[in-house]
Amino acid sequence: MTVLRVETGPTAYDVVVGPWQSAVERVADLFPNNRPVMISEPKVFGLYGAEVASSLGSAEPILVPEGEAAKEWTVLHRLLGEFSARNVSRQTPIVALGGGAVGDLAGLAASLFKRGCPIVHLPTTLLAQADSAVGGKTAIDAFGEKNLVGSFHQPALVIADPAFLDTLDQRQLRSGYAEIVKYGLVDDPLFFAWCEANGVGLLAGHRDLRAEAITIAIRAKARIVAIDVDDRNGTRALLNLGHSFAHAIESAAGLGRLLHGEAVAIGLVLAHRFSVDLGHCPAADAERVAAHLAGAGLPTRLADAGLAGAVDPLLMWMLRDKKNKASVPALVLTRGIGRAFLEPAVEPRRLAAFLAAAP
Ligand SMILES: NC(=O)c1ccc[n+]([C@@H]2O[C@H](COP(=O)([O-])OP(=O)(O)OC[C@H]3O[C@@H](n4cnc5c(N)ncnc54)[C@H](O)[C@@H]3O)[C@@H](O)[C@H]2O)c1
Ligand SMILES: [Zn+2]
Repeated sequence: MTVLRVETGPTAYDVVVGPWQSAVERVADLFPNNRPVMISEPKVFGLYGAEVASSLGSAEPILVPEGEAAKEWTVLHRLLGEFSARNVSRQTPIVALGGGAVGDLAGLAASLFKRGCPIVHLPTTLLAQADSAVGGKTAIDAFGEKNLVGSFHQPALVIADPAFLDTLDQRQLRSGYAEIVKYGLVDDPLFFAWCEANGVGLLAGHRDLRAEAITIAIRAKARIVAIDVDDRNGTRALLNLGHSFAHAIESAAGLGRLLHGEAVAIGLVLAHRFSVDLGHCPAADAERVAAHLAGAGLPTRLADAGLAGAVDPLLMWMLRDKKNKASVPALVLTRGIGRAFLEPAVEPRRLAAFLAAAP
């Protein structure tokens, strides 16, 4: 078991990477005399819910829809109604058991109810363990746009048990793997090389490799989040490498058609190739990234999302990105593998020409 500490200004919390059975007693230690309220979804609850709920001593769990369908106004409304009906207090730990969708929704509900209840994440997907459960970003989708309405609400504790991943399907695993590769590409070229050497074994089910990658990703995220907790000074924006493209791809393709990590894989390749176009990045680095992601079975081209030549919709979504100041697109670009930087003002015409020619 590995315990990592995330410092977020006045507060700090532990992320435990290891068996949930030995970590779960920490919830009672943190919140004595408060019965946790567990939020999960039918598939994950069917696999692990009863055992986790009984170890937690939690009340009747609240189940929300599976996948992106959880991140909806109506679901948030129902969840807050349940909290009210159960008279949840500001000391009641809300425990999210599931992937990033359950975590994003439960985190938002916890941050809103009575102006903030503690949230504990038990992430069950590779994506959520390596990325979304740490860092405090919460959100639902609204008005057709991903993550439009949300808050920052740091968890009180995260328990990431790679054993949960044994039941996750290959497509979901690959999606989470794209976010792991991202950590190498942002500022850790040695970790990217580690991915090239070990990615296949990790995807094939090697638990130690999974735990190692999750630990490295969380450590990197903790370091970056500590410098820029609320995503204002440009440091945390680096974690969005590939994401301006990815969010536009997800929205333009229709929310839910591509998995988040699949869109991120295409976005990572586009960010590298656009950096080549602008003269920042060696072409060989961009092709190395594309080859690794494709070799892992991830999509790497706009055509893979049915969006080849879809310049107008992609540009429209990219101009709405949260990183933008006014209507000039800000983009995370790169000088090569592990050398990402934030470009605050990209010329829209260069971007349009690049998208038009991108395969
Ligand atoms: N808050 C953040 O910082 C952040 C970062 C990245 C992504 N996200 C968000 O995370 C969401 C995606 O999360 P996700 O990829 O975890 O997907 P998800 O939560 O939609 O889960 C994917 C699927 O896997 C199933 N599943 C979950 N755990 C399982 C298990 N152990 N065994 C078998 N099946 C299991 C679920 O039932 C679902 O069908 C997106 O909405 C994205 O925007 C948030
Ligand atoms: Zn992401």
